[in-house]
Amino acid sequence: MAHSQTAEPTRRDFLYVATAGAGAVAAASAVWPLIDQMNPSAAVLALASTEIDISAVQPGQSITVLWRGKSTFIRRRTPEEIAASKEVNVADLIDPVARNANHEADAPATDANRAEKPEWLIVVGVCTHLGCIPLAFQGDYRGWLCPCHGSQYDTAGRVRVGPAPQNLDIPPYTFLSDTRVRIG
Ligand code: FES
Repeated sequence: MAHSQTAEPTRRDFLYVATAGAGAVAAASAVWPLIDQMNPSAAVLALASTEIDISAVQPGQSITVLWRGKSTFIRRRTPEEIAASKEVNVADLIDPVARNANHEADAPATDANRAEKPEWLIVVGVCTHLGCIPLAFQGDYRGWLCPCHGSQYDTAGRVRVGPAPQNLDIPPYTFLSDTRVRIG
């Protein structure tokens, strides 16, 4: 496992880990009196989600937040990126399954099944090969490039060049408004 790669964030690739972490801690403190009276699994559940303000994310930008200790990418896709993703024939993919927690386990990896709102792609930022953190806007498909062994993902987070065997996972998420999303 090599979780420690720390490539310089690009102009469009912001790291919001500190912000998201502070928010999660504040939320955890606020709900503690309530969940303290509940069973442990409810407490775990409450701490397992995070809310993110995405109002500052511009088209063509990606932010990274922490969800359950994992890097998670929230990317606001451009019309060109969405169009490129929609053109892909699912049958040609290395992994034709959506890997979306909000969908059936065997749902096909269409663009629509990967992004509830086409403009917003939310994926767990952990390479499905051996767990490195892929770099945004790199590689032939301009999605993500994993620096460890060269796997490439497209603008829907679907693996296009191995050795990674699967698409980037999509966590459960809900849009609370146009500018706020809850992951988990
Ligand atoms: S960990 Fe990403 S390609 Fe190996």
